[in-house]
Amino acid sequence: MIPLTLAEVAEAVGGRLVAADPAARVTGPVEFDSRKAGPGALFVAFPGEKVDGHDYAAGAVAAGAVAVLGTREVPGVPMVLVGDALDAMGRLARAVVDRLPALTVIGLTGSSGKTTTKDLIAQLTARLGPTVAPPGSFNNELGHPWTALQADADTRFLVLEKGARGVGHVRYLCEVVPPRISVVLNVGVAHLGEFGSVENIALAKGELVESLPADGLAVLNADDPLVDAMAARTAARVVRYGEAAHADVRAVDVTLDGRGRAAYTLVTPEGNAAVRLGLTGRHQVSNSLAAAAVARELGMPLGELAAALGELGLVSTRRMDVFERPDGVTVIDDSYNANPASTAVALRALAGMRGAGRAVAVLGYMAELGEYERQGHLEVGRLAAELGVDRLLVVGEPAAPIHEGATAVEDWGGKSVLLTDQAAAVEVLRSELRAGDVVLVKGSRYRTWEVADALRADATDGGAAA
Ligand SMILES: Nc1ncnc2c1ncn2[C@@H]1O[C@H](COP(=O)(O)OP(=O)(O)O)[C@@H](O)[C@H]1O
Ligand SMILES: [Mg+2]
Repeated sequence: MIPLTLAEVAEAVGGRLVAADPAARVTGPVEFDSRKAGPGALFVAFPGEKVDGHDYAAGAVAAGAVAVLGTREVPGVPMVLVGDALDAMGRLARAVVDRLPALTVIGLTGSSGKTTTKDLIAQLTARLGPTVAPPGSFNNELGHPWTALQADADTRFLVLEKGARGVGHVRYLCEVVPPRISVVLNVGVAHLGEFGSVENIALAKGELVESLPADGLAVLNADDPLVDAMAARTAARVVRYGEAAHADVRAVDVTLDGRGRAAYTLVTPEGNAAVRLGLTGRHQVSNSLAAAAVARELGMPLGELAAALGELGLVSTRRMDVFERPDGVTVIDDSYNANPASTAVALRALAGMRGAGRAVAVLGYMAELGEYERQGHLEVGRLAAELGVDRLLVVGEPAAPIHEGATAVEDWGGKSVLLTDQAAAVEVLRSELRAGDVVLVKGSRYRTWEVADALRADATDGGAAA
């Protein structure tokens, strides 16, 4: 963070100083975890249900924190007293980014691929200048200000993923940290339950480009009609990416190698260049184009850009994370999250990577689909069968329509089984997997990780993992 006096902090957040020296300077991180609030820090105390941050206020100050931002006084602790600590953190973040004229803020949203693409963009901007981006999916009212507050006078780029849980949410996040470049990836059915309709999802995601200034840039996916149409909702200049003919930054002649890695010709107004991605999955063509459109805008020359795209790696885990085991089994760990669109992408990658062995898919329940839940699961099952997946392990009763959808495909030569839990899936995999098989593990988080981790552990038990 840029150094601010407590008087400046109080002014920025509309707070009141209690037992604090207005001239004392906050130089170091703004943290809500007291263990990280060392010398120079501002500790933010949230009133939690289980743990109350105020109980850790004195400890944070003893460890060197300059003051505590909180909602009630703690005896003997210098405080910036506010009505709402989360709102205050947002205001402080805004005050900091407003004091950084050399900073370019890049925001992105979409139904699938935000974290992946955030990591791709940050890898490219890091080549152009010091970059701050959040770890993993830290994309909400807390993650935003926390990440933005790490920017200082040296920072050139701040890359923020904007998760939307309802109409108005992205707009709020854009008030906390206003982007100059906004990227919209896609509109799908993720979180349909909370939004009610795909139109509402488009409405919510479009807030990202609506809040751009006239000298800003909207980077839109030309291949997604709902995103493409967002051009009408922004005052900013528009650059489109995709495979569609009208895209400004395009991929043509896309091919996939045996490990599901794409190569394509990057077509830009400056010329063409060959790109060979090291990332797995056809969907990375789209994500890498979004990142390329941003880097191009920031002045990265075409040749350098094409080379940099080829060097992009995975940063956040469990997203199409491919590893090979010493026993010759290839595992695609895509267990971070699942919705019908990302599962379709993963199934296509699986089908494309099948070699001499079998294609095996372990699919769990997809959460947050609302009234689309049954249909979404049915469609995923049908697609698995249509793609010719050899073995389908459907995990957990709530995911049963996947099994139904697959078995309803008449001429499917594969086999599906509905299993009660993750342990049962691991057992089946241990008895059935053999060299040459490719296994996809996909579902919504926590429990699905157990399957991926068991496959990983088996690999290390057997010797050095590849
Ligand atoms: N462009 C895309 N289209 C469809 N699925 C995608 C895309 N990019 C990534 N995915 C898949 O979506 C899942 C979630 O990826 P992630 O980057 O964490 O997205 P988000 O942050 O939007 O939840 C992963 O399984 C990933 O492989
Ligand atoms: Mg995410």
